[in-house]
Amino acid sequence: MDESAEQGQFLDRSPQYDLIILGASGFTGKYVVREALKFLALSAPSSPLKSIALAGRNPTRLADALRWAAHPGVPPDIALLAVDVGDPASLRRMCAQTRLVLNCVGPFRLYGGPVVAACVDSGCDYLDICGEPEFMEMMEAKYHERAVETGSLVISACGFDSVPAELGLMFHSRQWKEPAVVNQVEAYLSLESERRIVGNFGTYQSAVLGVANVEKLQELRRSRPRRARPMIPGPAPPKGSIIEHQNEIGLWAVKLPSADSVVVRRTLSILTENPHGLPGANEDAENIEKRKFFWSTVKPAHFGVKMGLKSLLGIYRLIIVGMFIGVLGRTAFGRWLLLKFPSVFSLGWFRKKGPTEDEVECASFKMWFIGRGYSSRDVASQSNVKPDMEIITRVTGPEIGYLTTPIILLQCALVLLSNRENLPKGGSYPPGIVFGPTDLQERLEKNGISFDVISKDAVHF
Ligand SMILES: NC(=O)c1ccc[n+]([C@@H]2O[C@H](COP(=O)([O-])OP(=O)(O)OC[C@H]3O[C@@H](n4cnc5c(N)ncnc54)[C@H](OP(=O)(O)O)[C@@H]3O)[C@@H](O)[C@H]2O)c1
Repeated sequence: MDESAEQGQFLDRSPQYDLIILGASGFTGKYVVREALKFLALSAPSSPLKSIALAGRNPTRLADALRWAAHPGVPPDIALLAVDVGDPASLRRMCAQTRLVLNCVGPFRLYGGPVVAACVDSGCDYLDICGEPEFMEMMEAKYHERAVETGSLVISACGFDSVPAELGLMFHSRQWKEPAVVNQVEAYLSLESERRIVGNFGTYQSAVLGVANVEKLQELRRSRPRRARPMIPGPAPPKGSIIEHQNEIGLWAVKLPSADSVVVRRTLSILTENPHGLPGANEDAENIEKRKFFWSTVKPAHFGVKMGLKSLLGIYRLIIVGMFIGVLGRTAFGRWLLLKFPSVFSLGWFRKKGPTEDEVECASFKMWFIGRGYSSRDVASQSNVKPDMEIITRVTGPEIGYLTTPIILLQCALVLLSNRENLPKGGSYPPGIVFGPTDLQERLEKNGISFDVISKDAVHF
């Protein structure tokens, strides 16, 4: 038997745990633990999640995180595993014991590679909450083929980056009914709170390092084969102004350089190459039909994401922070300054200690999807014609980093644990192409994330 077959997930793996949360002691990690405890079979007997373990480099911090997550209850008896991403043997031991790793150790460009490598080698599945395009594309370039062989499913961006954008776009595009066709969808993210909106240092550090390495990402892309581009009816939309006022939703907006549009583009490319989506490892005929039907209703569109704010002053603040990170992030001294004084250079949006529990509880998000298109393909094919239809949909949910992200990560994990035979055998993919046809959207809706049609019928301008 060859080595890859020996290590493959479908051959004789009988791991002890359904999932292991790596980085459980981190700021986001402890919220992921709290979310996981809700679905552990002890409190939800029908749950596919029967056994979990927490992993990290410091067992005392893991125990503290478990106590915090279980509060005010008594912490359940859960194994705490000493795992350091710098120690490959500890990663191998971890992967041998589990069906699935939920990785919360970031910045992923610094710490994620060895974790993916270990999961792929052992054939266990891997989900993370990464929002760093270079890491995702690098993992795909390095490990996709091997992951297909070993039966390891590697899916990054299973948090606020980028599941609301992926599922939100699919939900939106499915509202366009024949003969109407969608051309462009712009997503506007609006963060709301009665208190301060604050993120933890880990996310800020990941963003700073992303800017520092932007050229590496370009280089990586140049070295990779070109992906298929979807056929979108009508001409490419014009670039538009840097700052816009979006009357329909009452927000000022500026382009948000998040991972979302990159991740969505990867999903649309894979869909173009596989118009029926990705076959499951061991799918029955009913699921094959369901999957094909789902993808036949999703229409690709030009997609971008903007940050929306109620005041123009807020937009200027955002641009100033973008300029600090964009300029200082390119030199070692500049990065030192940015990372030493996160509150100063993010104008208070990121803090070394992260938000308080109260600040997390008070926050929420709305992501508006404004789609423009044509009443028919004939109209779209005419020259110099402007879109004559518009549909608006919206995804809403609680605070993005520490409530929505754990909800999404856990629901992705539960889909994977309960529905593994209908998902691809292995490979490295963005979340939309894998979870699109599953019940992930319904699961999110049951857990506080809503998908709504705002303007139900297409509006003629
Ligand atoms: N997708 C999204 O929307 C979203 C939302 C939230 C966060 N994130 C991302 O999640 C990542 C973590 O953010 P955070 O704010 O939670 O950061 P954090 O509080 O600094 O947590 C980092 C975690 O990594 C662990 N770690 C560091 N080095 C390690 C090593 N060598 N071996 C094992 N574990 C190690 C830390 O362990 P110790 O406890 O031992 O220090 C800690 O548990 C960031 O990349 C962030 O961008 C994404």
